[in-house]
Amino acid sequence: MDFQELVRKRFSARNYRPDEVETSKLDYILECARLAPSAVNFQPWKFLVIKSERQKENIRQCYDREWFKTAPLYVVVCVDKSVAWVRKSDNKNHADVDASIAAEHICLAAAEVGLGSCWVCNFNPDLFAELFHMSAEVFPVAIIPLGYVNETPKHLSERKSMEEIVTVL
Ligand SMILES: Cc1cc2nc3c(=O)[nH]c(=O)nc-3n(C[C@H](O)[C@H](O)[C@H](O)COP(=O)(O)O)c2cc1C
Repeated sequence: MDFQELVRKRFSARNYRPDEVETSKLDYILECARLAPSAVNFQPWKFLVIKSERQKENIRQCYDREWFKTAPLYVVVCVDKSVAWVRKSDNKNHADVDASIAAEHICLAAAEVGLGSCWVCNFNPDLFAELFHMSAEVFPVAIIPLGYVNETPKHLSERKSMEEIVTVL
């Protein structure tokens, strides 16, 4: 599978089988996240792996959707803003950028090993902070459910054309 095939294989999966994800696959996915680039190589991320029934109940409260409950496992990509690079010229903190790269590594690695994933950002961050007792500087960027997909693999949803998005100067 070349890179574009892998990119096309990934889609937002919103229905999972209850089957457990093998530890070797989870380890592979987390290693791909660990290897992601980050600004000044500060690696400001923390990955919360949610496997226990108790914590799954908690995370499902933060994003209350029926499909979300079907996932056997979740990885929450968090960042510590105080560790991330801040551009001096305009004070832009790059925590979100770093976290997003790692999160997409997770989704692509999952697709490679035959697992489905979905970016979820529309969760309740206040409830997350309360239930998971995060320190003030650490905040969740994305929750990624992982598991074997219980639907026919989708094609990528429609994308804008090259003409719309590329400017050659
Ligand atoms: C930053 C970001 C946040 C997203 N948040 C959610 C979400 O909260 N819930 C959800 O169902 N999908 C979410 N998605 C998935 C998008 O809806 C999906 O990626 C987009 O429609 C393209 O479809 P595809 O992933 O199947 O190619 C999110 C995607 C991104 C990149």
